[in-house]
Amino acid sequence: MKKINFDQLFFNSIFELKKKNLERGLKLLTKIDPVKVKYKQKVLLNFSSNDYLGLSQNKTIKNYTINIIKKYGMGSGSSRLVSGNFDFHEKTEKELAKKKKSEAAIIFSTGYLANYSILSSIFNSNIFKKKPIVFSDKLNHQCIYEGCKNKDIKFLRFHHNDMNHLEYLLKKNKFKTNPKFILSETVFSMDGDFADIESLVKLKKKYNSFLFLDEAHATGVYGDNGFGLSLKFSNDIDCVTGTFSKAFGSFGAYVSCSKNLKSFLINKCPSFIYSTSLPFSLLASIYSSIKIIPKLKNERKKLIKNSFYLREALKKENFNIGNSQTNLIPIIIGDPKKTISISKELERKGLYVVPIRPPSVPPNSSRLRISISSCHSENNIKKLFNSLKMFKNRI
Ligand SMILES: Cc1ncc(COP(=O)(O)O)c(C=O)c1O
Repeated sequence: MKKINFDQLFFNSIFELKKKNLERGLKLLTKIDPVKVKYKQKVLLNFSSNDYLGLSQNKTIKNYTINIIKKYGMGSGSSRLVSGNFDFHEKTEKELAKKKKSEAAIIFSTGYLANYSILSSIFNSNIFKKKPIVFSDKLNHQCIYEGCKNKDIKFLRFHHNDMNHLEYLLKKNKFKTNPKFILSETVFSMDGDFADIESLVKLKKKYNSFLFLDEAHATGVYGDNGFGLSLKFSNDIDCVTGTFSKAFGSFGAYVSCSKNLKSFLINKCPSFIYSTSLPFSLLASIYSSIKIIPKLKNERKKLIKNSFYLREALKKENFNIGNSQTNLIPIIIGDPKKTISISKELERKGLYVVPIRPPSVPPNSSRLRISISSCHSENNIKKLFNSLKMFKNRI
Protein backbone atom coordinates (compact mmCIF):
# COMPACT_ATOMS: atom_id res chain seq x y z
CA MET A 1 0.00 0.00 0.00
CA LYS A 2 1.34 3.41 -0.96
CA LYS A 3 2.32 5.49 2.04
CA ILE A 4 0.66 8.88 2.28
CA ASN A 5 3.07 11.70 3.06
CA PHE A 6 0.74 13.86 5.12
CA ASP A 7 3.28 16.54 5.80
CA GLN A 8 4.03 16.92 2.10
CA LEU A 9 0.30 17.42 1.43
CA PHE A 10 0.14 20.17 4.05
CA PHE A 11 3.20 21.80 2.50
CA ASN A 12 1.70 21.59 -1.02
CA SER A 13 -1.51 23.20 0.12
CA ILE A 14 0.34 26.17 1.66
CA PHE A 15 2.66 26.42 -1.33
CA GLU A 16 -0.40 26.96 -3.55
CA LEU A 17 -1.45 29.87 -1.33
CA LYS A 18 2.08 31.29 -1.37
CA LYS A 19 2.10 31.38 -5.17
CA LYS A 20 -1.04 33.55 -5.06
CA ASN A 21 0.28 35.83 -2.27
CA LEU A 22 -2.45 34.46 -0.01
CA GLU A 23 -0.33 32.64 2.55
CA ARG A 24 -0.94 33.75 6.15
CA GLY A 25 1.51 33.72 9.01
CA LEU A 26 1.62 34.80 12.63
CA LYS A 27 3.39 38.00 13.61
CA LEU A 28 4.91 38.06 17.08
CA LEU A 29 3.91 41.31 18.78
CA THR A 30 4.47 42.83 22.19
CA LYS A 31 1.60 44.88 23.55
CA ILE A 32 2.55 48.33 24.76
CA ASP A 33 -0.76 50.16 25.16
CA PRO A 34 -4.19 50.08 23.46
CA VAL A 35 -2.80 51.59 20.24
CA LYS A 36 0.87 50.64 20.28
CA VAL A 37 2.60 47.32 19.65
CA LYS A 38 6.23 46.36 19.30
CA TYR A 39 7.11 44.32 16.21
CA LYS A 40 10.66 43.30 15.33
CA GLN A 41 12.05 45.69 17.99
CA LYS A 42 10.11 48.63 16.57
CA VAL A 43 7.18 50.43 18.22
CA LEU A 44 4.27 50.72 15.79
CA LEU A 45 0.98 52.58 15.98
CA ASN A 46 -1.67 49.89 15.80
CA PHE A 47 -4.52 50.48 13.34
CA SER A 48 -5.53 46.82 13.20
CA SER A 49 -7.01 46.18 16.62
CA ASN A 50 -10.67 45.74 17.52
CA ASP A 51 -10.04 47.14 21.00
CA TYR A 52 -12.10 50.17 19.89
CA LEU A 53 -12.38 51.80 23.33
CA GLY A 54 -9.04 50.71 24.77
CA LEU A 55 -10.87 48.70 27.44
CA SER A 56 -8.32 45.88 27.29
CA GLN A 57 -6.12 48.20 29.38
CA ASN A 58 -8.77 49.81 31.57
CA LYS A 59 -7.55 50.06 35.18
CA THR A 60 -10.96 49.62 36.83
CA ILE A 61 -11.65 46.49 34.80
CA LYS A 62 -8.18 45.11 35.49
CA ASN A 63 -8.45 45.68 39.26
CA TYR A 64 -11.95 44.26 39.48
CA THR A 65 -10.84 41.19 37.50
CA ILE A 66 -7.77 40.67 39.72
CA ASN A 67 -9.95 40.81 42.84
CA ILE A 68 -12.40 38.31 41.41
CA ILE A 69 -9.58 35.95 40.46
CA LYS A 70 -8.22 36.26 44.02
CA LYS A 71 -11.65 35.38 45.38
CA TYR A 72 -12.79 32.63 42.99
CA GLY A 73 -9.64 31.49 41.16
CA MET A 74 -9.42 30.63 37.50
CA GLY A 75 -11.54 27.93 35.86
CA SER A 76 -15.24 27.24 36.41
CA GLY A 77 -14.63 23.50 36.57
CA SER A 78 -17.23 22.22 34.15
CA SER A 79 -19.98 22.96 31.69
CA ARG A 80 -22.87 25.07 32.96
CA LEU A 81 -25.19 22.09 32.87
CA VAL A 82 -22.94 20.12 35.24
CA SER A 83 -21.37 22.20 38.00
CA GLY A 84 -20.19 25.27 36.12
CA ASN A 85 -23.16 27.62 36.45
CA PHE A 86 -22.34 30.29 39.02
CA ASP A 87 -24.00 33.45 40.25
CA PHE A 88 -21.56 35.42 38.08
CA HIS A 89 -22.85 33.79 34.88
CA GLU A 90 -26.46 34.51 35.79
CA LYS A 91 -25.84 38.04 37.04
CA THR A 92 -23.91 38.92 33.85
CA GLU A 93 -26.69 37.54 31.67
CA LYS A 94 -29.35 39.41 33.62
CA GLU A 95 -27.43 42.67 33.22
CA LEU A 96 -26.94 42.04 29.53
CA ALA A 97 -30.60 41.26 28.89
CA LYS A 98 -31.46 44.53 30.65
CA LYS A 99 -29.04 46.52 28.51
CA LYS A 100 -30.15 44.77 25.30
CA LYS A 101 -33.83 45.17 26.26
CA SER A 102 -34.40 41.48 25.58
CA GLU A 103 -36.30 38.85 27.51
CA ALA A 104 -33.13 36.84 28.06
CA ALA A 105 -29.42 36.63 27.32
CA ILE A 106 -26.96 33.77 27.26
CA ILE A 107 -23.19 33.79 27.25
CA PHE A 108 -21.09 31.85 24.75
CA SER A 109 -17.36 31.23 24.66
CA THR A 110 -16.68 33.25 21.49
CA GLY A 111 -18.59 35.17 18.86
CA TYR A 112 -17.50 32.65 16.25
CA LEU A 113 -18.90 29.77 18.29
CA ALA A 114 -22.10 31.64 19.11
CA ASN A 115 -22.98 32.36 15.47
CA TYR A 116 -21.88 29.00 14.16
CA SER A 117 -23.47 26.87 16.83
CA ILE A 118 -26.75 28.76 17.27
CA LEU A 119 -27.50 28.64 13.56
CA SER A 120 -26.39 25.05 13.12
CA SER A 121 -28.36 23.85 16.13
CA ILE A 122 -31.52 25.60 14.91
CA PHE A 123 -31.08 24.15 11.40
CA ASN A 124 -30.21 20.66 12.69
CA SER A 125 -33.01 20.48 15.19
CA ASN A 126 -35.81 18.88 13.16
CA ILE A 127 -38.32 21.30 14.68
CA PHE A 128 -39.54 22.40 11.26
CA LYS A 129 -41.85 20.44 9.04
CA LYS A 130 -40.22 21.97 5.96
CA LYS A 131 -36.70 22.87 4.90
CA PRO A 132 -35.66 26.30 6.24
CA ILE A 133 -34.93 28.90 3.57
CA VAL A 134 -32.05 31.12 4.65
CA PHE A 135 -31.44 34.60 3.22
CA SER A 136 -27.95 35.73 4.15
CA ASP A 137 -26.08 38.93 3.31
CA LYS A 138 -23.24 38.08 0.94
CA LEU A 139 -20.65 39.76 3.19
CA ASN A 140 -21.67 38.03 6.42
CA HIS A 141 -18.83 36.71 8.57
CA GLN A 142 -17.38 33.25 8.01
CA CYS A 143 -18.93 31.91 11.24
CA ILE A 144 -22.41 32.69 9.90
CA TYR A 145 -21.54 30.78 6.73
CA GLU A 146 -20.27 27.87 8.82
CA GLY A 147 -23.56 27.76 10.73
CA CYS A 148 -25.39 27.43 7.42
CA LYS A 149 -23.37 24.51 6.05
CA ASN A 150 -26.29 22.14 6.14
CA LYS A 151 -27.73 20.19 3.24
CA ASP A 152 -31.18 20.33 4.78
CA ILE A 153 -31.57 24.06 4.30
CA LYS A 154 -31.96 26.16 1.17
CA PHE A 155 -29.23 28.81 1.42
CA LEU A 156 -29.64 32.01 -0.60
CA ARG A 157 -27.27 34.98 -0.53
CA PHE A 158 -28.56 38.47 -1.16
CA HIS A 159 -26.29 41.16 -2.60
CA HIS A 160 -24.55 43.02 0.17
CA ASN A 161 -26.92 45.41 1.97
CA ASP A 162 -29.24 45.32 -1.04
CA MET A 163 -32.76 45.34 0.40
CA ASN A 164 -34.31 45.23 -3.10
CA HIS A 165 -32.48 42.02 -3.86
CA LEU A 166 -33.45 40.57 -0.48
CA GLU A 167 -37.10 41.42 -1.14
CA TYR A 168 -36.86 39.97 -4.63
CA LEU A 169 -35.67 36.65 -3.16
CA LEU A 170 -38.27 36.73 -0.37
CA LYS A 171 -41.02 37.45 -2.89
CA LYS A 172 -39.94 34.53 -5.05
CA ASN A 173 -40.47 32.27 -2.03
CA LYS A 174 -43.54 34.08 -0.74
CA PHE A 175 -45.99 31.22 -1.20
CA LYS A 176 -43.73 28.61 0.28
CA THR A 177 -44.64 27.76 3.83
CA ASN A 178 -41.05 26.86 4.74
CA PRO A 179 -39.61 28.74 7.75
CA LYS A 180 -37.57 31.73 6.54
CA PHE A 181 -34.48 33.21 8.17
CA ILE A 182 -32.81 36.53 7.41
CA LEU A 183 -29.19 36.85 8.56
CA SER A 184 -27.07 40.00 8.69
CA GLU A 185 -24.35 41.79 10.61
CA THR A 186 -25.24 45.27 11.85
CA VAL A 187 -21.78 46.76 11.22
CA PHE A 188 -19.92 44.83 8.54
CA SER A 189 -16.51 43.75 9.74
CA MET A 190 -14.46 44.18 6.58
CA ASP A 191 -16.34 47.07 4.98
CA GLY A 192 -17.38 49.17 7.95
CA ASP A 193 -20.86 49.94 6.67
CA PHE A 194 -24.15 49.73 8.58
CA ALA A 195 -26.92 47.28 7.75
CA ASP A 196 -30.29 48.85 7.00
CA ILE A 197 -31.91 47.42 10.13
CA GLU A 198 -35.17 49.29 9.67
CA SER A 199 -35.68 47.67 6.26
CA LEU A 200 -34.58 44.27 7.52
CA VAL A 201 -37.24 44.52 10.23
CA LYS A 202 -39.89 45.61 7.71
CA LEU A 203 -39.06 42.70 5.41
CA LYS A 204 -38.93 40.25 8.26
CA LYS A 205 -42.44 41.28 9.27
CA LYS A 206 -43.81 41.40 5.74
CA TYR A 207 -42.52 37.92 4.90
CA ASN A 208 -42.99 36.42 8.34
CA SER A 209 -39.33 35.52 8.83
CA PHE A 210 -36.88 35.03 11.68
CA LEU A 211 -34.36 37.89 11.91
CA PHE A 212 -30.85 37.09 13.17
CA LEU A 213 -28.36 39.95 13.63
CA ASP A 214 -24.68 39.90 14.56
CA GLU A 215 -23.62 43.01 16.50
CA ALA A 216 -19.95 42.02 16.89
CA HIS A 217 -18.61 45.37 15.71
CA ALA A 218 -21.46 47.55 16.98
CA THR A 219 -21.43 46.34 20.59
CA GLY A 220 -19.77 48.91 22.81
CA VAL A 221 -19.62 51.59 20.13
CA TYR A 222 -22.99 52.14 18.42
CA GLY A 223 -26.61 52.39 19.58
CA ASP A 224 -27.99 53.67 22.90
CA ASN A 225 -25.18 53.69 25.48
CA GLY A 226 -23.12 51.56 23.11
CA PHE A 227 -25.37 48.52 23.36
CA GLY A 228 -25.88 48.02 19.66
CA LEU A 229 -27.96 49.16 16.75
CA SER A 230 -30.60 46.48 17.16
CA LEU A 231 -31.79 48.11 20.42
CA LYS A 232 -34.14 50.45 18.58
CA PHE A 233 -36.00 47.44 17.20
CA SER A 234 -35.47 45.00 20.03
CA ASN A 235 -39.09 43.79 20.02
CA ASP A 236 -38.89 42.77 16.39
CA ILE A 237 -35.56 41.00 16.22
CA ASP A 238 -35.54 37.32 17.07
CA CYS A 239 -31.90 36.74 17.90
CA VAL A 240 -28.96 39.10 18.35
CA THR A 241 -25.39 38.02 18.90
CA GLY A 242 -22.39 40.11 19.89
CA THR A 243 -18.90 39.62 21.15
CA PHE A 244 -16.95 40.83 24.18
CA SER A 245 -13.70 40.48 22.25
CA LYS A 246 -13.84 43.79 20.42
CA ALA A 247 -14.99 47.07 22.04
CA PHE A 248 -15.44 45.27 25.37
CA GLY A 249 -11.68 44.63 25.30
CA SER A 250 -12.09 41.10 26.63
CA PHE A 251 -13.26 37.73 25.30
CA GLY A 252 -16.50 35.75 25.06
CA ALA A 253 -19.85 36.46 23.46
CA TYR A 254 -23.55 36.91 24.14
CA VAL A 255 -26.86 36.11 22.56
CA SER A 256 -29.92 38.19 23.40
CA CYS A 257 -33.17 36.48 22.60
CA SER A 258 -36.46 35.20 24.01
CA LYS A 259 -36.61 32.97 27.10
CA ASN A 260 -37.74 30.10 24.88
CA LEU A 261 -34.81 30.42 22.50
CA LYS A 262 -32.46 30.55 25.49
CA SER A 263 -33.94 27.29 26.85
CA PHE A 264 -33.73 25.76 23.38
CA LEU A 265 -30.01 26.60 23.20
CA ILE A 266 -29.37 25.24 26.70
CA ASN A 267 -30.94 21.96 25.60
CA LYS A 268 -29.94 21.69 21.96
CA CYS A 269 -26.75 23.60 21.32
CA PRO A 270 -23.76 21.21 21.58
CA SER A 271 -21.13 23.94 22.06
CA PHE A 272 -23.08 25.20 25.07
CA ILE A 273 -23.88 21.76 26.49
CA TYR A 274 -20.53 20.04 26.07
CA SER A 275 -18.06 22.82 26.75
CA THR A 276 -16.69 24.29 29.99
CA SER A 277 -18.33 27.56 30.99
CA LEU A 278 -16.55 30.91 30.88
CA PRO A 279 -14.01 31.37 33.71
CA PHE A 280 -14.39 33.96 36.48
CA SER A 281 -11.62 36.15 35.10
CA LEU A 282 -13.53 36.71 31.87
CA LEU A 283 -16.90 37.07 33.56
CA ALA A 284 -15.42 39.71 35.82
CA SER A 285 -13.99 41.73 32.96
CA ILE A 286 -17.21 41.40 30.95
CA TYR A 287 -19.37 42.41 33.91
CA SER A 288 -17.16 45.37 34.65
CA SER A 289 -17.22 46.46 30.97
CA ILE A 290 -21.03 46.28 30.92
CA LYS A 291 -21.06 48.76 33.80
CA ILE A 292 -18.42 51.05 32.29
CA ILE A 293 -19.50 51.16 28.63
CA PRO A 294 -22.58 53.43 29.13
CA LYS A 295 -20.27 56.01 30.72
CA LEU A 296 -17.93 56.22 27.73
CA LYS A 297 -19.94 58.78 25.79
CA ASN A 298 -16.94 61.06 25.20
CA GLU A 299 -14.80 58.19 23.98
CA ARG A 300 -17.51 57.17 21.49
CA LYS A 301 -17.88 60.78 20.34
CA LYS A 302 -14.13 61.07 19.79
CA LEU A 303 -14.05 57.75 17.94
CA ILE A 304 -16.88 58.80 15.64
CA LYS A 305 -15.37 62.26 15.05
CA ASN A 306 -11.89 60.88 14.26
CA SER A 307 -13.31 58.19 11.99
CA PHE A 308 -15.36 60.79 10.11
CA TYR A 309 -12.28 62.98 9.71
CA LEU A 310 -10.20 60.10 8.27
CA ARG A 311 -12.95 58.85 5.95
CA GLU A 312 -13.53 62.34 4.52
CA ALA A 313 -9.80 62.99 4.07
CA LEU A 314 -9.34 59.64 2.30
CA LYS A 315 -12.35 60.23 0.06
CA LYS A 316 -11.01 63.66 -0.93
CA GLU A 317 -7.81 61.96 -2.05
CA ASN A 318 -9.88 59.44 -4.04
CA PHE A 319 -8.97 56.39 -2.00
CA ASN A 320 -11.49 53.61 -2.46
CA ILE A 321 -12.96 53.18 1.03
CA GLY A 322 -16.10 51.44 -0.25
CA ASN A 323 -19.17 52.54 1.66
CA SER A 324 -17.51 52.77 5.06
CA GLN A 325 -19.65 54.68 7.59
CA THR A 326 -17.93 53.68 10.80
CA ASN A 327 -14.57 53.42 12.55
CA LEU A 328 -13.77 50.45 10.29
CA ILE A 329 -12.30 51.91 7.14
CA PRO A 330 -11.06 49.69 4.32
CA ILE A 331 -8.69 50.95 1.67
CA ILE A 332 -9.59 48.63 -1.15
CA ILE A 333 -6.58 47.92 -3.33
CA GLY A 334 -7.53 44.68 -5.11
CA ASP A 335 -4.22 42.98 -5.75
CA PRO A 336 -2.94 41.00 -2.73
CA LYS A 337 0.75 41.51 -3.59
CA LYS A 338 0.37 45.28 -3.79
CA THR A 339 -1.64 45.30 -0.55
CA ILE A 340 1.11 43.37 1.26
CA SER A 341 3.79 45.68 -0.08
CA ILE A 342 1.99 48.87 1.04
CA SER A 343 1.34 47.35 4.45
CA LYS A 344 5.10 46.65 4.75
CA GLU A 345 5.97 50.21 3.78
CA LEU A 346 3.54 51.56 6.36
CA GLU A 347 5.29 49.35 8.87
CA ARG A 348 8.62 51.04 8.00
CA LYS A 349 6.91 54.34 8.80
CA GLY A 350 5.84 53.07 12.21
CA LEU A 351 2.27 52.05 11.35
CA TYR A 352 0.72 48.61 11.81
CA VAL A 353 -2.07 48.08 9.27
CA VAL A 354 -2.44 44.45 8.25
CA PRO A 355 -3.33 43.45 4.70
CA ILE A 356 -6.64 41.59 4.48
CA ARG A 357 -6.86 39.16 1.59
CA PRO A 358 -9.23 36.48 0.27
CA PRO A 359 -10.86 34.39 1.58
CA SER A 360 -11.47 36.95 4.37
CA VAL A 361 -12.73 39.29 1.65
CA PRO A 362 -14.06 38.53 -1.86
CA PRO A 363 -11.56 37.83 -4.68
CA ASN A 364 -9.76 40.91 -6.10
CA SER A 365 -10.70 43.08 -3.14
CA SER A 366 -7.62 42.80 -0.95
CA ARG A 367 -7.44 45.77 1.35
CA LEU A 368 -5.87 47.55 4.24
CA ARG A 369 -8.48 47.45 6.97
CA ILE A 370 -8.05 50.42 9.28
CA SER A 371 -9.75 50.29 12.63
CA ILE A 372 -9.89 53.47 14.65
CA SER A 373 -9.88 53.37 18.43
CA SER A 374 -10.93 56.14 20.80
CA CYS A 375 -7.35 55.94 22.09
CA HIS A 376 -5.91 57.19 18.78
CA SER A 377 -5.04 60.87 18.94
CA GLU A 378 -5.71 63.30 16.10
CA ASN A 379 -1.97 63.29 15.46
CA ASN A 380 -1.95 59.50 15.18
CA ILE A 381 -4.64 59.70 12.53
CA LYS A 382 -2.91 62.52 10.67
CA LYS A 383 0.28 60.47 10.64
CA LEU A 384 -1.58 57.53 9.10
CA PHE A 385 -3.30 59.74 6.53
CA ASN A 386 -0.08 61.51 5.50
CA SER A 387 1.72 58.19 5.10
CA LEU A 388 -1.11 56.72 3.04
CA LYS A 389 -1.09 59.77 0.79
CA MET A 390 2.51 58.97 -0.15
CA PHE A 391 1.35 55.66 -1.66
CA LYS A 392 -1.68 57.12 -3.41
CA ASN A 393 -0.24 56.83 -6.91
CA ARG A 394 0.49 53.12 -6.35
CA ILE A 395 -3.03 52.17 -5.28
C1 LIG B 1 -18.96 39.98 12.38
C2 LIG B 1 -18.21 39.08 13.29
N1 LIG B 1 -18.89 38.14 13.96
C3 LIG B 1 -18.27 37.31 14.80
C4 LIG B 1 -16.91 37.38 15.01
C5 LIG B 1 -16.24 36.41 15.93
O1 LIG B 1 -16.12 36.95 17.20
P1 LIG B 1 -15.05 36.35 18.22
O2 LIG B 1 -13.75 37.00 17.90
O3 LIG B 1 -15.57 36.69 19.57
O4 LIG B 1 -14.98 34.88 17.99
C6 LIG B 1 -16.17 38.35 14.35
C7 LIG B 1 -14.71 38.45 14.61
O5 LIG B 1 -13.91 38.69 13.81
C8 LIG B 1 -16.82 39.22 13.46
O6 LIG B 1 -16.15 40.14 12.78
